[in-house]
Amino acid sequence: ESSTNPDPPGLTPIPILHRKEYKKMPHFDFEDVYRRDRQPSKTSLWNVIKQDPELRDKFIPNIRMYVHNGSISMSEWNRLSHFNNPFGFMDYTINLVSKPKYPLLSPKPGRDCISCAVVATGGVLWKSRKGREIDNHDYVFRLNGAVIKGFEEDVGSRTDVYVHTAFSITAVEIFLRKYNYTRAPHDEVWIKYVLIPEGKRDFEWLTGLYKRERLVGGAFPNRRPWTQYSDQFNETRYYVLHMDFMRYIRNRSFLNSSTLNLGFWPIVRPTNGAFMMFVALHVCDRVDAYGFISDDHRKYSNYYYERGANTHVTFFGNHNYNMEKDLWKIFHELKIINLYSGESDPTEPTAPKQNRRR
Ligand SMILES: *[C@@H]1O[C@H](CO)[C@@H](O)[C@H](O)[C@H]1NC(C)=O
Ligand SMILES: *[C@@H]1O[C@H](CO)[C@@H](O)[C@H](O)[C@H]1NC(C)=O
Ligand SMILES: *[C@@H]1O[C@H](CO)[C@@H](O)[C@H](O)[C@H]1NC(C)=O
Ligand SMILES: *[C@@H]1O[C@H](CO)[C@@H](O)[C@H](O)[C@H]1NC(C)=O
Ligand SMILES: *[C@@H]1O[C@H](CO)[C@@H](O)[C@H](O)[C@H]1NC(C)=O
Repeated sequence: ESSTNPDPPGLTPIPILHRKEYKKMPHFDFEDVYRRDRQPSKTSLWNVIKQDPELRDKFIPNIRMYVHNGSISMSEWNRLSHFNNPFGFMDYTINLVSKPKYPLLSPKPGRDCISCAVVATGGVLWKSRKGREIDNHDYVFRLNGAVIKGFEEDVGSRTDVYVHTAFSITAVEIFLRKYNYTRAPHDEVWIKYVLIPEGKRDFEWLTGLYKRERLVGGAFPNRRPWTQYSDQFNETRYYVLHMDFMRYIRNRSFLNSSTLNLGFWPIVRPTNGAFMMFVALHVCDRVDAYGFISDDHRKYSNYYYERGANTHVTFFGNHNYNMEKDLWKIFHELKIINLYSGESDPTEPTAPKQNRRR
């Protein structure tokens, strides 16, 4: 990992910039500069990515993935203060984060191809019977409302990496109570937790988490963050995504939504599922994706745990679902991922279901 360049003497923080001063996403001449590690990732997936001239120029194999205490100098702070959250620190200042001690995926002795299953929550997984296939991967990634109990046959039961925001880990506990979801996955064998620092509230969360202090005020009053991880929280296995990693995904025309040019640009960002996918793409040799949005998504419920209920993906303005859907399709066609998009059964009528009025 490269060290941070020393700051010139006398460097002070720039004044805080405010999102509301910009009617669309502002541009800076250093917007394509990202923190990088010395050692590029050497997964065999890069050999596939390199085959495609366009993608080869978009992916950065040594992009810095995690942020931690001590990795942000004053000049880094000043650079990142130009970008809105989660891509930078526009509008606020933060307390930092301890440094994880282990690589996200530990090498598997005797295996030179690490296979990953990235499991999102799409309705396509209901009755898929993909559980055993998912569990047979070296590593299983899950996120948000990862309901497992009662769905093992379809979604598997292991979790090695759990991706979340402070909001998602607390909200799903309430919203998914009716699906018997009680808490985040907590496999006892070295589960790793990845936080997407979505905004200021995630840094409040981190402060309580590391200090093991009950939160006072803020977005999560009275919460005791470390208890949300069911006794499996350990800072040596806790990873906070780097702002540059997230901005690289937004910018490198993977997911640079045209809505970034509209007044609500500051809330436009890739979904948690997209961030999870890109984490896997940077650390795995093979990525099999389950429960992600695909062309057929209207045939299924929004979430697998709704058991085929007539709900559909709600297209919230802060995410560009069509752009993500098309990107996964391109990645699948280029064999960068293997996207599970349901078994097409020729005996099934193809006429779309009557959709509930919204
Ligand atoms: C960050 O680093 C400072 C100085 O090294 C240390 O005092 C502080 O405890 C660290 N915070 C965390 C969350 O690791
Ligand atoms: C929740 O668990 C109870 C008791 O095991 C069971 O009867 C019920 O069907 C479950 N609900 C769902 C939505 O799976
Ligand atoms: C966290 O994990 C490390 C090993 O990486 C261990 O030494 C330490 O005791 C653990 N801390 C807690 C609070 O369990
Ligand atoms: C995005 O990246 C491209 C290079 O791929 C660069 O030219 C451009 O300035 C960047 N734009 C933003 C908004 O970050
Ligand atoms: C996204 O990136 C592509 C390629 O760099 C560029 O042509 C396009 O204008 C960008 N879109 C936006 C909204 O910035």
